[in-house]
Amino acid sequence: MSSPADRSIVVENLTRCYGDLCAVDSVDLQIDSGRIFGFLGPNGAGKSTLVKVLTTILAPTSGRALVGGHDVVSEGHQVRSLIGVALQDVGLDPLMTASELLQLQARLFGHTPEAARDRGRLLLERVGLDDVPAEKRVGAYSGGMKRRLDLALALVHDPAILFLDEPTTGLDPVSRAEIWTEVRRLNRDQGVTIFLTTQYLEEADRLADEVAIISRGHIVAQGSPEELKREVGQEVISLVFAEDEDARQAEDVLGQLDGSRQLAGRELLVYSAKAAELVPSLVRRLDAHGLVLKGLSLAQPSLDDVFLRATGERMEEGDDSHLGEKVEP
Ligand SMILES: Nc1ncnc2c1ncn2[C@@H]1O[C@H](COP(=O)(O)OP(=O)(O)O)[C@@H](O)[C@H]1O
Ligand SMILES: [Mg+2]
Repeated sequence: MSSPADRSIVVENLTRCYGDLCAVDSVDLQIDSGRIFGFLGPNGAGKSTLVKVLTTILAPTSGRALVGGHDVVSEGHQVRSLIGVALQDVGLDPLMTASELLQLQARLFGHTPEAARDRGRLLLERVGLDDVPAEKRVGAYSGGMKRRLDLALALVHDPAILFLDEPTTGLDPVSRAEIWTEVRRLNRDQGVTIFLTTQYLEEADRLADEVAIISRGHIVAQGSPEELKREVGQEVISLVFAEDEDARQAEDVLGQLDGSRQLAGRELLVYSAKAAELVPSLVRRLDAHGLVLKGLSLAQPSLDDVFLRATGERMEEGDDSHLGEKVEP
């Protein structure tokens, strides 16, 4: 038995397949107690599948996972007693009110009716829903209010480890910031380990202590956001052309210059420690070859650059279209 202080998550060579498709393929992760872990990847990458395995909803095909020191297969009951879960596609009964849902959940976890009522009130306050009229049915809630209620429901039994599957997808920036504030508070004040999936680069960057990037079932990068960005190189010059073919020619033309290059559709990225110094010679050379720039920008590397370097594709943040498409005009 592990001590209740163990709030870690360990994933070892874990694979989960649906028929021939392995949505999670040979994944290893080590998340220490009390971290905010961001699991970043585009739609279809395998995020929800791993969350379902870690929360004992799906069995792994092979490999193993420990949550709070307990095996998700052989000690599912102990795992479930430690965790809170807000899944991506779980509907709330639209005809119930928030406090009815919270009290129901609290009763399921063994609270007395009075304790369930108190718990419901406390949690509504915690997620900023306490000023909503009590008789308002959940069906009339906005997207942001529903996600906050999802979060409150996941907190009913004071979990040591919290799983949030895309808690802010589709939310406006204000609602997103409110969820971030509550996630940070839970982590800081109660030491809750938080495993959060997201398709938003900024969310992973700003919220998570540590990030793993998943693409087509494989972890392609892992570390703190700062480490990952540092590995990319110091600066990124983005050169945008009218056509993919121009970008390809530019890649050849710039072949002998300093810095590494990455082609993404009609965009060519040049990574260099001395990017600003490089720009004039780079523009002259393109000009000499009759290659016309549609845009040029200089930026610090982002997690999108980390993803691009690892996969050769842009992440297409928040886009619901099929993953794996190249950048299009
Ligand atoms: N129940 C299922 N049956 C068959 N394929 C599935 C099922 N659930 C997910 N998939 C497939 O597994 C891959 C990963 O899905 P998912 O884990 O939901 O990714 P994400 O949460 O990152 O969007 C996708 O190709 C998806 O279509
Ligand atoms: Mg998902």
